[in-house]
Amino acid sequence: MIRYISAMPSPEWEHETPRTLALLGSTGSIGTSALRVVEAHPHRFRVVALAGARNVEKLAAQAARWRPEHLGVLDAAGAAKLRDLLPAGYAPHIHIGPEGYATMATLPEAGTVLSAQVGAAGLRATEAAARHGKVICLANKESLVLAGDIIRRHCAGSGAVILPVDSEHNAIFQALQGHDPASVRRIILTASGGPFRGRSREDLAAVSCRDALAHPNWDMGAKITIDSATLMNKGLEVIEACHLYGVGIDDVGVVVHPQSIVHSLVEYEDGSQIAHLGTPDMRIAIAYCLTWPGVVDAGVPRLDLVKAGSLTFEEPDLHSFPCLELARRAYREGRGMPVVLNAANEVAVSLFLSDRIRFLDIPDIIARALDMHDGTTPHDIEGIEALDEATRRTVYERAGHSNTDGMA
Ligand SMILES: NC(=O)c1ccc[n+]([C@@H]2O[C@H](COP(=O)([O-])OP(=O)(O)OC[C@H]3O[C@@H](n4cnc5c(N)ncnc54)[C@H](OP(=O)(O)O)[C@@H]3O)[C@@H](O)[C@H]2O)c1
Repeated sequence: MIRYISAMPSPEWEHETPRTLALLGSTGSIGTSALRVVEAHPHRFRVVALAGARNVEKLAAQAARWRPEHLGVLDAAGAAKLRDLLPAGYAPHIHIGPEGYATMATLPEAGTVLSAQVGAAGLRATEAAARHGKVICLANKESLVLAGDIIRRHCAGSGAVILPVDSEHNAIFQALQGHDPASVRRIILTASGGPFRGRSREDLAAVSCRDALAHPNWDMGAKITIDSATLMNKGLEVIEACHLYGVGIDDVGVVVHPQSIVHSLVEYEDGSQIAHLGTPDMRIAIAYCLTWPGVVDAGVPRLDLVKAGSLTFEEPDLHSFPCLELARRAYREGRGMPVVLNAANEVAVSLFLSDRIRFLDIPDIIARALDMHDGTTPHDIEGIEALDEATRRTVYERAGHSNTDGMA
């Protein structure tokens, strides 16, 4: 039985022409792909706000092209640099830091918010957009991992809508169209298996950050690419699916599908499985959300099944890649565990990306953080942020490193 997290968009939103967009995380992989979709259909959209974080040059170039009234950066130094880079005569409002991003997510002049900031840093803006009744095209899965129940309540109260950008959840969303939600037996997420599929734990002991960043099918930001290599990405997606579709964790299966052509499936009571197939390119899911319920050319090369050849499926290897099971454990145990899981993972990934720990240390660090959690259960966003921060501090200390990477 599916209990979707929100209602569907209103007819007013559907008929808004052009659609008014606040793109948060515009300088990232998802943000850049979203702007390619907008560029291909400029008459359909008006870009009202763009937010990056540290890549001020890229944000300035995007701003010069789209001339939104609002821009967002991480800190005051970035804002000063951005002002210097903007073309003469163009003086948008520049928002700064988490508060600034949250304000941008609630701008009255933007009906649609793309939540594509990375990690827990995306939570504030997603939560603010949900409180203010926006249509949220949600790429930032961490928002649901951390605060799925709160966001569901906000959607019920404000009329906010979530459209899933994450390709697996977008595939499920599409496979559910026209079906009775009561007839769903289970959801099946596909996973590529990442660059280390088939490797033993012994093999994984020596893999480098560079090896881990070489994803076989998807071109993504660094954090999610490492999460794909450890299978934590699938673990976060299982939790995301539970919140998005209102199903229990045992109703969400995972199957490894190395070709990444089948983006996920829904199984119905009669035994049918409805799958979504496509070329592995995030513009399909992004365009689907931005233009829902219309369908436009996303600019993606057509899928040729004959050229794709064999589509294969296998069980995930939970021995070599324990992160998927750690995520399931965190969701089952509740009591703040998903917050601890996510924070420990973000710290471990940043330590791995800066060559300060090894690949197999990532699950060990996360498991230890879960084991040590004192049971603090956050009930609101402030509580989640406090637990997130406390976990990060402890994990850095235990790993013998300081937080010098500037992550959220
Ligand atoms: N990439 C994919 O194919 C894909 C697929 C499904 C879901 N997602 C999800 O989408 C989200 C974005 O992923 P991505 O791959 O696009 O990541 P990315 O390429 O690393 O981009 C992240 C974006 O977030 C911004 N950012 C970084 N730190 C920030 C902070 N502290 N506060 C606010 N913004 C910050 C970055 O700005 P600067 O670059 O200017 O610093 C950038 O705009 C993640 O939650 C990911 O799980 C991604």
